Amino acid sequence: MTPTPNHAGARSLLAVVLAAGKGTRMRSELPKVLHPIAGRPMLAHVLAAVAEAGAERLAVVVEPGRDDVARVVAGFPGAETFPQGERLGTAHAVLAARAALEAGADDVVVAFGDTPLISPETYARLRAPLAGGAAVAVLAFEAGNPAGYGRVLVEDGRVTAIREEKDANEAERRVTLCNAGLMALSGRLALGLLERIGNANAAGEYYLPDAVALAVADGHRVAVVPVAEAEAQGVNDRVQLSTAEAAVQATLRRRAMLGGATLIAPETVFLSHDTVLGRDVVVEPHVVFGPGVVVGDRCTLHAFSHLEQARLAEGVQVGPYARLRPGAVLEDGARIGNFVEVKNAAIRAGAKVNHLSYVGDAEVGAGANLGAGTITCNYDGVNKHRTVIGAGAFVGSNSALVAPVTIGEGAFVGSGSVVTDDVPPGSLAIGRGRQVIKTEWAKPTKR
Ligand code: UD1
Ligand code: MG
Repeated sequence: MTPTPNHAGARSLLAVVLAAGKGTRMRSELPKVLHPIAGRPMLAHVLAAVAEAGAERLAVVVEPGRDDVARVVAGFPGAETFPQGERLGTAHAVLAARAALEAGADDVVVAFGDTPLISPETYARLRAPLAGGAAVAVLAFEAGNPAGYGRVLVEDGRVTAIREEKDANEAERRVTLCNAGLMALSGRLALGLLERIGNANAAGEYYLPDAVALAVADGHRVAVVPVAEAEAQGVNDRVQLSTAEAAVQATLRRRAMLGGATLIAPETVFLSHDTVLGRDVVVEPHVVFGPGVVVGDRCTLHAFSHLEQARLAEGVQVGPYARLRPGAVLEDGARIGNFVEVKNAAIRAGAKVNHLSYVGDAEVGAGANLGAGTITCNYDGVNKHRTVIGAGAFVGSNSALVAPVTIGEGAFVGSGSVVTDDVPPGSLAIGRGRQVIKTEWAKPTKR
């Protein structure tokens, strides 16, 4: 699935990404374009796709004062935000990025921040007709149900206009070829077309699709680029958000499997946009990957494990029912078993934490063994402290290691200990109440 974007020779590409909508139907405090899909904001999917399609500059039109949106944009090289004060329509929104248009580009692609499934290949196909002399290219699909979409009007095989549903007559409403909304415009002509778009229509909005009729009137060619309806789907509510998530997950699972990982029940595994799985990795059912997970070759992730910002070297075993939190680093052959949580901790080669443990802010040396129920007590209510366990150490079951504390190389900790002082290498620490036997203590009970 490595995309081969069409860079259309040496032509420069500016992407104008419209992202000013609040998305009221999401019923959310979060702006619509920041809702995550596969562990990253919807808007980031769009910005990554247009960048991969060859856009050197990304002009993102945003609601003024949205620092959260601006932060996402700042993560992309060549991206800049342009505030749109009032939302007066899609053409008005593109003109909010006037400075970017004036700086000049051979091709301009207009993308929507709430249409996250458009692939880099599709953006590349959309701009391609411009290199052949078209003034405008529109992305269009055959709709199962065209209601609500702008209709692409064609006469004698040529596009003449796009008509919004609100403005369409009976015959126009029967047209099933619909505007996906995204458009490519010749950089030379874009500003001239956009500035002439008026708002004399049913919605009183400045419609970007009106660029089509204007270009045709000027004698320019307008191209229609087909796209599958599913790919063109926008997200307006959380039901559509879940549909988009499912589509992205399907793509990520397929990519993981074709890359050499076995997903036994792929539809139960949830990946992040950046999940990296090595060869001969086996992922059992119901494993969830948050962002930032890298899994080396020959690792097995047993059922019902949850991983986030964790790095696994080779031949590591995790789960079932394990939780790897940010900063978990598992070296070659390490084993993390059931009901074990690891956070900000390195588990060195061959070390084992097999049952019912919490290992946080710690280092577990190579080949060390933490018995069932070992807990690193890393938090004193104010600060976090480190636990260092030397190579080959053995910690008996149900021990609490009160950080900061060091267990020396090859040292032993007796089961049930509460370890508050450092344990020298090779020694045995026992920190628990002595067993007391009271013989014949149990009295016979009367019946
Ligand atoms: C648009 C198209 C329609 C097409 C449909 C496909 C227009 C006029 N119509 O309609 O032909 O079939 O998409 O889904 O373009 N936005 C701004 N500022 C604005 C207005 C919109 O940033 O002032 C952004 C929105 O956040 C959204 C995108 O532009 O990301 C599209 O706007 P929206 O209002 O959803 O247009 P539609 O009515 O869906
Ligand atoms: Mg829309």
